[in-house]
Amino acid sequence: MMNQDQFPTIEEIDMLANRIRGSTDLRPKVGMILGSGLGELADSLETSISLPTDELPGWPKSTVEGHAGRLLMGVLEGMPVCVLQGRVHYYEGHPMARIGLPIRVLQRLGADTLIVTNAAGGVNPSFEPGDIMLIIDHINLIGMAGLSPLRGPNLEEFGPRFPDMSQAYDRQLQALARRVAAQEGLALREGIYICLGGPAFESPADLRFLRMIGVDAVGMSTVPEITVARHGGMRTLGFSGISNKASLDGEKLTTHSEVLEAGKRIGPRLERLIRGVLRGL
Ligand code: HPA
Repeated sequence: MMNQDQFPTIEEIDMLANRIRGSTDLRPKVGMILGSGLGELADSLETSISLPTDELPGWPKSTVEGHAGRLLMGVLEGMPVCVLQGRVHYYEGHPMARIGLPIRVLQRLGADTLIVTNAAGGVNPSFEPGDIMLIIDHINLIGMAGLSPLRGPNLEEFGPRFPDMSQAYDRQLQALARRVAAQEGLALREGIYICLGGPAFESPADLRFLRMIGVDAVGMSTVPEITVARHGGMRTLGFSGISNKASLDGEKLTTHSEVLEAGKRIGPRLERLIRGVLRGL
């Protein structure tokens, strides 16, 4: 039997939004989800509140090392932001529909822009660990396989049953990110991100397949979040921190500690990019 409770309802979403509104006067314009090892930006927020997400009933809990389960509301570069520190992934066992819940709450809080970062494997042979990639589009392989956060009753309050995805990543925000990178003297790669179910990393044959279908970076997040964000009419911007290089011959192992290590190196540059984008909004 399918459990209908997994699908967030407008009542559940509004209950959570009201609870958050009750703890701060801040009304976020921008939501942010920070990837593995990339969460430090949140520490420099002029924070008004930090809510442990386990105090929010029904909130999907992050179980992954490198993802603190906190919701931070504060000001960054003059912009009121809400940072979801502690992303949740499908492989943790959350139903896909629950992964979109925090984004729905952001939407009800009035955020109209979503900035996401992730750690990703470099499939494009010219990418090196430590690179930052501007996500210009994604391949929703996990969605093609039927795992969409929009499955279930459509929430008409947010968007249509069949939402457009022709511009999943906002073109103006991409242009802004390029300008900021140039001003800051930061190298910025660009490419296509794919979300796989994980949690196993890819086999060499998987990686050859991904290269063939035009993937530049591979990870286990972001696409479901962007799908919910776009359904709800948010403008979205995404960056991948390239933490490791695809090993197509199977000569090199991939580990989570390597991913977290790379995050530490990438974090400060990503922070400059995101701060610049916030100033330019
Ligand atoms: N594959 C999938 N997800 C990842 C990788 C990878 O190589 N690196 C960081 N996240």
